[in-house]
Amino acid sequence: MELFSTVPSHTVGDKRLRKKTFDIFDEIQVCNVGIGTGDWDDYLGYWLKGRGGLTSIDIDESICEIFEYRQQREQHPNPSKVLCRSIFDSDLPQEAFDIVTLIGSAINETGDFKKCLDSCFSLIKHGGYLMFMASLKYTPVEMLEEYISNTKYHIVQKTVYEVFLEYPFFISKIRK
Ligand SMILES: C[S@@+](CC[C@H](N)C(=O)[O-])C[C@H]1O[C@@H](n2cnc3c(N)ncnc32)[C@H](O)[C@@H]1O
Repeated sequence: MELFSTVPSHTVGDKRLRKKTFDIFDEIQVCNVGIGTGDWDDYLGYWLKGRGGLTSIDIDESICEIFEYRQQREQHPNPSKVLCRSIFDSDLPQEAFDIVTLIGSAINETGDFKKCLDSCFSLIKHGGYLMFMASLKYTPVEMLEEYISNTKYHIVQKTVYEVFLEYPFFISKIRK
């Protein structure tokens, strides 16, 4: 199971996405920002194969409660540690994660592109990665490139998917 292979759910089965992008190692710490339906968080938990921990952050109390309850009820083998917080809160763990993921509409829902990315990077250990996936309709790749050009971070991989006409998107891997 590979990390880019099911992003987003529309593209499951598309072999063009089946690239090995992130390695798993013992005690790896992964964090997803923006739970939504929680499908992605479920997937990440499986992807870790019990070798590391997953933390899921969301501002919405009911989303957090339902997600936690559902994972428990479905007996997810590697459930998330849920933090019901805003990505903008100052008490989030700093430089604690090897990989942070931010996908779908999460960045737009926070209402502040730059501040959201700044906060996501503050969660990542030095040398760790942000996996950022967004809709090209709301987030042109150039917006990300401009943001990165003002930082010391590096886009190590960026793939644009325009084959799905109703949902063109890109996925990027950015090293802190
Ligand atoms: C609609 S979901 C989409 C993301 C999800 N990962 C997906 O694509 O399946 C966006 C989530 O971001 C959360 N969110 C919005 N603003 C937030 C913030 N400031 N901090 C943390 N989560 C936030 C919302 O509560 C919502 O659950």
